[in-house]
Amino acid sequence: MRLDVVTIFPEYLEPLNVSLVGKARARGQLNVHVHDLRSWTYDRHNTVDDTPYGGGPGMVMKTEPWGDALDSVLADGYESGSRAPALIVPTPSGRPFTQELAVELSERPWLIFTPARYEGIDRRVIDEYATRMPVYEVSIGDYVLAGGEAAVLVVTEAVARLLPGVLGNAESHRDDSFAPGAMTNLLEGPVYTKPPLWRGRDIPDVLLSGHHGKIARWRRDEALRRTAAHRPDLIERCEPKAFDKKDREMLSILGWAPDPEGEPHGRFWRRPDGVGE
Ligand code: ADE
Repeated sequence: MRLDVVTIFPEYLEPLNVSLVGKARARGQLNVHVHDLRSWTYDRHNTVDDTPYGGGPGMVMKTEPWGDALDSVLADGYESGSRAPALIVPTPSGRPFTQELAVELSERPWLIFTPARYEGIDRRVIDEYATRMPVYEVSIGDYVLAGGEAAVLVVTEAVARLLPGVLGNAESHRDDSFAPGAMTNLLEGPVYTKPPLWRGRDIPDVLLSGHHGKIARWRRDEALRRTAAHRPDLIERCEPKAFDKKDREMLSILGWAPDPEGEPHGRFWRRPDGVGE
């Protein structure tokens, strides 16, 4: 996979040399190019922004540097044999970045990122390239960053670990929290390793029992407990048929019940009586 990033802070992308993404690059699984947007400015001050039409606070990134930069990146990529680019525009007004979208992006051969500073990029730039390639405007969460570079790092890491051969065991993706298409998306429960006793704290006996069935059940109960506490929306979204008898017992203990209106097997809702709180 080829990745291009156009930014006014190329040094912000240094983490792409480290750890999983860095190793994927070293192995040739990822071909990363970081470009300085200011290379496509031609005035003395290397201006990339200007005041917004219609007034208001902040500055808007100008069309010309972005247009010239993207044309040049596209020409370079096509020349080196890359095909089917997609433009990834990090913005707090984008669609939420999810595991499902990470999987979709991991199947594309070439991603071009345009992290913006200030109030964003002149809309005409996105509209122009949308006529030539798929454009994904993505938000990594409901908060506002000072720029899109951190979002590029987030998206890149989530995508890179899905590429064939990047993680040791390809099987492991299927069990990721948030794996797309799963009937249940539960958060992972707690994990433990040696030593068995640390500062007077031991580990749950069941994990030492060697009983795989009981261990699996315990892990599932802990996942339900954690998901109910931190992400009740995920429990509500689960297909009721995904919950077995023991799941239902656990959910009941945690204060959840099937929606009586949703016949015959309604989705689960937190019981209004507050039991299990
Ligand atoms: N740029 C600023 N905030 C952002 C966010 N939440 N997601 C993606 N890009 C951003």
